[in-house]
Amino acid sequence: MQQTISPARRLEGTIRLPGDKSISHRYGILAAIAEGPSTIHHYSTGADCQSTLGCMRALGVPITRREDGAVVIEGRGLRGLQAPPDDLDAGNSGSTIRMLSGVLAAQAFTSRIAGDESLSRRPMDRIMKPLSLMGAEMEAVDGRFPPLTIHGRPLRAMRYEPPMASAQVKTCVLMAGLYAEGETTVVEKVGTRDHTELALREFGADIQTSGGVITVKGPAVLRGKELAVPGDLSSAAFFLVAAAILPGSKLLIQGVGLNPSRSALLDWLVAAGVNLRVNNLAEVSGELVGDLQVTGGEIKGGIIRGAASAALIDEIPVLSVLGAISRDGLVVKDAKELRVKETDRIATVAGNMRRMGVNIEEYEDGFRVPGKQKFRAAQVDSFGDHRIAMAFAVASLAAGGETTVLNAEAASVSFPEFYATLRQITV
Ligand code: S3P
Repeated sequence: MQQTISPARRLEGTIRLPGDKSISHRYGILAAIAEGPSTIHHYSTGADCQSTLGCMRALGVPITRREDGAVVIEGRGLRGLQAPPDDLDAGNSGSTIRMLSGVLAAQAFTSRIAGDESLSRRPMDRIMKPLSLMGAEMEAVDGRFPPLTIHGRPLRAMRYEPPMASAQVKTCVLMAGLYAEGETTVVEKVGTRDHTELALREFGADIQTSGGVITVKGPAVLRGKELAVPGDLSSAAFFLVAAAILPGSKLLIQGVGLNPSRSALLDWLVAAGVNLRVNNLAEVSGELVGDLQVTGGEIKGGIIRGAASAALIDEIPVLSVLGAISRDGLVVKDAKELRVKETDRIATVAGNMRRMGVNIEEYEDGFRVPGKQKFRAAQVDSFGDHRIAMAFAVASLAAGGETTVLNAEAASVSFPEFYATLRQITV
């Protein structure tokens, strides 16, 4: 499917976004291995989070969607999963395969988990290494690519320091730690999103965190719960940038997750000169939630490097669009992880920028986009990557004419309602 996007004068209105993708995955998996039913309100509508639910169903967990949209998961307890009849399908979702592998590694059965073409090119050795240190037995294509065959084994607790900043790796080890006797500890040099820690606490696990050291005690007993997922801040990023680059915009986004381990985006935008206000802060299911109000105006631009690159990794594609329009441009360094996302996002951002007549210099671990540039109407491609589709839909709003986004349906991996929401607020 392709989308044709016309230039916009400004964005105006009030919107709510689908439930946070990161939090939905965690609630979906933890509710399935908890004792008793959980009700999850505002679970992400994105295909990735449906992949997680599909895998849990295939493992014998009854899951229904109520008429009001809430997802009801009949938890089977830590030991209640059943061997799946076929390969588990993680679709496009790195979170599903990496987080769920921690659970599968501890089961009394063998399972195989596979994904689409993009996922089949993404590295899994980052979870295979710690899981094998815990006693898991796994096989992968060339030792590191999906499908993964996982022979469940009794696992040993351990202390692990991941070599890269990755919340998925941390989560995988903590999931496995729920099954291991004793204390499993993850030590983070650079902190990553802490949704797993907060979710584990909500489900009643014994979890301690202190200065980058996270310890879970196993075997755990998790209890089913009623939870609500906040709106997805990474999805909000597309609209925050779109409103910021279109002068005269005034946009309110309600009920967005503002967990401090995720919200570096807001600080960065404010430092870049974006006019942003946060209102109505509240805590929901242990997560911070609030409303974001953004208005358009002059933007300075900025640099993303070091720990900020890890904290902003999902938002960098759309921030590149803001960089091109800003006064000083954008430099991104220390972001090699972009190369192993749903696409090589340094290459796909650069390719689409050039199609739209925008200068960009690629580095091995980032890029530089000079400021004060204009987007030319063009044909761009998502290359099957949801964040690339949405980032260049935003760039299209600032182009000189109609732009076509090829393979635009990729957006539905995290945000099926994206184009409809955009139309609703485009003036
Ligand atoms: C995620 C962690 C990040 C992020 C991904 C979601 C999570 O990946 O890019 O979109 O929910 O834990 P890494 O763990 O690979 O950094």
